[in-house]
Amino acid sequence: MKTLILNGSPHPNGDTAKLLHRLVEQLEGEYRIYNAYTAKLSPCMDCRACRKQDGCVIQDEMQEIYAYLTECDHILIASPVYFSELTGKLLDLASRLQRYFNARVYLGKEPLSKPKRGAILLVGGGMGKMEKAVNTATILLHQMQCQTILPPVISAHTDCVPAIEDPIACEGIRQIAAFFHAAQDSLG
Ligand SMILES: Cc1cc2nc3c(=O)[nH]c(=O)nc-3n(C[C@H](O)[C@H](O)[C@H](O)COP(=O)(O)O)c2cc1C
Repeated sequence: MKTLILNGSPHPNGDTAKLLHRLVEQLEGEYRIYNAYTAKLSPCMDCRACRKQDGCVIQDEMQEIYAYLTECDHILIASPVYFSELTGKLLDLASRLQRYFNARVYLGKEPLSKPKRGAILLVGGGMGKMEKAVNTATILLHQMQCQTILPPVISAHTDCVPAIEDPIACEGIRQIAAFFHAAQDSLG
């Protein structure tokens, strides 16, 4: 089983990264983490080439992510919230998922035949609500053919408690791993 993890944090050892480290210790199978701050890719320019032919014409690291997206079984969107949203860099990466929407609407084809399970991990420093970020992440997971999505795992007060010491977040990490493994078990 293969898990794609999209990390929207700029900190290699920050709250998101530490929770992801905890998760991958528990994950079975193969996984790949792509970080939106270090991935060599540009945002969608709305060139609309993907309305005429399946795929994105921009040749950068996103092509590698597309390839893994095709074969993976699970997807986790993990991000700090910035102004109650996913980080801008993660949205840059996510904008490249527009090719899937265009394939469905303009080409009448399903570009991702394999259904997946999705999960959302958010951290925040205690300011405002998380609904916007949850809604955005849910839309993106649907774009990527996640048909079942776990309720979001949130560490909302990293200003007071580092996410890795937040018992709710750590229990949530355990639940994400169990949710992904359950998909594996159901296939025998
Ligand atoms: C530009 C910016 C905007 C932020 N906006 C929010 C916010 O709206 N709500 C919130 O709870 N925390 C906000 N934060 C705090 C981060 O989400 C928080 O510090 C988080 O734990 C950082 O995660 P990381 O260490 O994984 O990068 C913001 C931080 C920055 C730098």
